[in-house]
Formats: sequence, C-alpha cells, structure tokens
Amino acid sequence: MEISSGLEDVYIKHTALTSIDGEKGVLRYRGYNIEDLVEHSTFEEVAYLMLYGELPSNERLATFRASLEKGYVLPDYVKKIISDIPRSAEALTIYMTAFAAMSAAENDFKWSPQTDKQKSAEIIGHAASVVANANRHISGKSVVDLKPSGSYARSFLEGALDRKADAKEVRVMDRALILYLDHEVPASTTAALVACSTLSDMYSSVAAAVAALKGPLHGGAAESAYLQFDRIGSPGNVEKWFNENIIVKKQKLMGFGHRVYKTYDPRMKIFRKMDDEIVKSPEDRNMLQTARKLEEAGVRQFGPKYVFPNTDFYSGIAFKAIGFPVNMFTALFALSRTTGWLAHISEYNESEPRIMRPRALYTGPGPRELAAVSNK
Ligand code: CMC
Repeated sequence: MEISSGLEDVYIKHTALTSIDGEKGVLRYRGYNIEDLVEHSTFEEVAYLMLYGELPSNERLATFRASLEKGYVLPDYVKKIISDIPRSAEALTIYMTAFAAMSAAENDFKWSPQTDKQKSAEIIGHAASVVANANRHISGKSVVDLKPSGSYARSFLEGALDRKADAKEVRVMDRALILYLDHEVPASTTAALVACSTLSDMYSSVAAAVAALKGPLHGGAAESAYLQFDRIGSPGNVEKWFNENIIVKKQKLMGFGHRVYKTYDPRMKIFRKMDDEIVKSPEDRNMLQTARKLEEAGVRQFGPKYVFPNTDFYSGIAFKAIGFPVNMFTALFALSRTTGWLAHISEYNESEPRIMRPRALYTGPGPRELAAVSNK
C-alpha cells in the first residue's frame, strides 16, 4: 500500500470552479482566463461567477451587491470580541477568532442549496468588515461597520485605512481580490471541505480554512517573502545574501515553488506588473528592485528544477504600497479566498457530499500484554 505524502496527486472532488495547467502556467475560473477576468471584471462579478456559474446581469449584480453590503454590518458581540483582542495579535488570528465566534449563532445550521449562496454573499461581506477592522484594531483605531461605497474593494479599503482610497489603489485591491479568489484545492480549501463534510456550519468551515492558510508554506508566504526582501535591504545585496542563505545554508526561498505550477505562476506576473504601477515611495521602489533581482537569482538557481516564483512573491509589495502593514498580508489573502472556500463548499454539498475520512497505515508495535503501571 502506498502513502501519498502531502496528498500529492490525490483528487478529492470534481470541480467546475478553477482549472490549473501547471506545465503551461494557465489559470482559469469557470473557463475564463485569469488575465481576462483581472482586466475586464470586478471582484463582485467574479465572486458571483464562482458561486453561481455565470457572470451576472446588472440586475443580479445589484442584488448580489446588496447581500454583500448586508454583511458589512457585524453582530455587536463580534465587534466587541475584535476590540478585546490584544492589538499585537496577527490580523489572521483576529479573522479566525471572529469567524469562530460567528458560528455561535449557527446551532441549528442545515446545509441548503436554496439559501447557501445568499448566505455565502453575506459571509463575504462579513469577511470585508472583519479584515478591515483587523487592520483598524492593530493600528489603534476603533471597530466600526463598513460603509457601502458601490465597490467591495473601495468599501473595504476605506474602512480598513480610515481614509478615502484613490482610483489606482481601488483597482489594485480589486485585482488582488480576483487573483487570490480561488486556486482549486490547496491546504486551506481542503481543510474547509474536511470541516464541511462533517456537516459543520459555514463559519466554522471558514475558520478551519483560515487555520490552514496561516503557515508560511501557504498563505503566510507573502509575509515571509516580503520580510526576506526587507532583510536583504537593496538590490546590490542580493547576490551575497542569496549565496550565503539559499546556496550555503540551504534555506528555502520564500515565494518560490508550487505543488502544481512547474513554470511561472500567471498570478505572479500580474502582481509584478501591478507593483510597478502602484509603488510610489523610494523605499517601496527599492523593495521592488530588490525583489526583481532576487527573482533573477532564484530562477537561475531553481528554474532547472521547475521551481519558479509564485503569486506570494510580489503580492506583499502591492499591499504595502497601498498602506497595509506586513502582518495584514495573510489576512488580505484570506479576505479574497473566502469566496473560493465558500464556492467549493457549495459545490461539494451540491454534488458529492460524503464525510472525508482517510486512513493512516499503522506501523507501531504488534499486540502487547498490558501491565499495570504499578507492577512495572
Ligand atoms: N526554495 C528552494 N527550493 C525549493 C523551494 C523553495 N522555495 N520550493 C521547492 N524547492 C525544491 C525542494 O527543495 C525540492 O528539491 P529536491 O527535489 O532536491 O528535494 C523540490 O524543489 C520540490 O519541492 P517540494 O518541497 O517537494 O515541493 P512541494 O510541492 O512539497 O512544496 C511548496 C511546495 C510551495 C510548499 C514549496 O515550494 C515551498 O515551501 N515554497 C516556499 C513557500 C511558498 O512560497 N509558499 C507559497 C505557495 S503558493 C501560494 C500559496 O499556496 O499560498
């Protein structure tokens, strides 16, 4: 019997949501190329596409937006919980705590194809409010409800940053939300599916996904990649740092490598271009130049092993340029991916719901006589 370490090449469900061609570096949501969606659609339209299967009419979009906006208002007890968390907490911990807390109102939860998507839209609205308030809380501001502004990205940004956002910032945020929205069944989506397969509620399933997203091998990689550029300091230091840390000490290059892509991640290329458009300050420009130089060194070293930069390599530079601190990066990933988690949960429940219960191959001692501890 073979064990699939890391569940590599194990298929756990059918999906009509996202397809990845890891050899060619192609990503599609419901058949649409990611490049086209980023260029021509908004986050709300793509979120609707993922939940309902087709892009919305204007009328359906307005109804969907109203459900998102309903979710901008958080229950009072959730706002209190966020206010009470130490301000030193990671933003993602605030997100996980708020979602676990919101399951308190779900004692009678039952899955229902008639209401799940409407409920998903409200949860996606809650996600914007929770992540915006996580940023407010860790930067010393009060917890509030988001104000609808006609755009999910704008409402989120203006709530999170406590100021007006300009058109360029909104467009970059909107695109980032589309880019991170879904990616088939990585660790976090698998965790959400395992939780929902036991008939757990939607909020708890999202909290399970967030726990799996947190680590540096998955969602935490954007933060780790950015901190790496920060440690290097400038493009001129890249070669020496790379040699000492990656070649000699054999550290992992963060933001590089992917289980599915064996070439450039298409999302990475879009983030790299957006970084160039959004960075303003000389410090952020220096960080981008450092990252570009590190990308060159990384591809030279690891390209022959089919290890290339992934989406997390460049996303942090865009988030930082908009005005987010580094410990918000994983929460921003979670904000976007919440839609993917919920779309996969709906798809699973509608098609092949069965409890996920794999096996472990026993390799411990054979049957043994039990001697009471006092006789030993
Ligand atoms: N730096 C140096 N070598 C690497 C890296 C890296 N970042 N990634 C893979 N390799 C090497 C690895 O050492 C191995 O070499 P060998 O065959 O000689 O032992 C080979 O490439 C295959 O790697 P693996 O670890 O077996 O691949 P995996 O599919 O188990 O892991 C990964 C994938 C993403 C966890 C891994 O590439 C990694 O740790 N990358 C750094 C963290 C990161 O950027 N994560 C973000 C992933 S993409 C977005 C997301 O999911 O959030």
